[in-house]
Amino acid sequence: MSDKVVSDYNGYDYKKIFWEDADREYEDQADRMAIRKLLPKRMEKFADIGGGYGRLANEYLRRARKVYLFDYSKTELKQAKEIYGDKIETKAGDIYKLPFKDNELDGLMMVRVTHHLEHLEKAVAELYRVLKPGGVAVIEVANKRTLPKMARFVTGRSKVNPFDKTVANYTEISANGFYNYHPKYVEEIFARVGFSQERVLSVSNFRSRGLKKVLGTRNLIKMENGAQRALAPIRFAPSIYYKLRKPEK
Ligand SMILES: C[S@@+](CC[C@H](N)C(=O)[O-])C[C@H]1O[C@@H](n2cnc3c(N)ncnc32)[C@H](O)[C@@H]1O
Repeated sequence: MSDKVVSDYNGYDYKKIFWEDADREYEDQADRMAIRKLLPKRMEKFADIGGGYGRLANEYLRRARKVYLFDYSKTELKQAKEIYGDKIETKAGDIYKLPFKDNELDGLMMVRVTHHLEHLEKAVAELYRVLKPGGVAVIEVANKRTLPKMARFVTGRSKVNPFDKTVANYTEISANGFYNYHPKYVEEIFARVGFSQERVLSVSNFRSRGLKKVLGTRNLIKMENGAQRALAPIRFAPSIYYKLRKPEK
């Protein structure tokens, strides 16, 4: 099994190109709302896994005594250091071999990373290993079973079947490809690895250029807040957030 890094953010200005120069305030706010609902209020040691330049750091800095930002990309980690200084400790490496001891962390999160992972189960097992018993992992998963993907499949515009549990690898989107997952597939992985599933949220429910134009970002953000819990049972949103716990011994 190869552990190649599928998407290398070294030399890529993710902060500017993906967030600041693009119309993504709604998506950013949707992520933040979910994280506020799911992360424990107080933690000793916390890590943002694949945390990039620390876009979401303000959501966890106040909750943990010690904060690590872990990422493969030195470009991202350097930017994070420039922004947050000593408030965070950056660690570089590959997700499949995390530089933390067994049972070291009280909490962690991994947001907008699963779509880059070729071996999701192996990564989830690493997250489990580094958490203390009783510790919490907040994991965002790129969902293949969304309404637009269903529409594209049933009208013959996409061959990717959103209803089956196999991993979707959209090589047409970039040379390296993106992975999307069926909720049942990831939930089975979480259970196999040993996590108990405490809460699920449906996130970025209204991610659509058309809706942004018609309704406006402010209104979408207001609608999103209520929808995250209400729509969770159907798991149709592009991002599904899970609050998982490593059981106490
Ligand atoms: C889309 S960005 C998300 C960053 C941040 N979590 C956020 O939501 O703003 C994905 C991040 O995952 C990191 N990444 C991808 N594959 C990785 C791997 N195998 N090991 C460590 N980091 C990885 C990339 O370097 C990148 O910073």
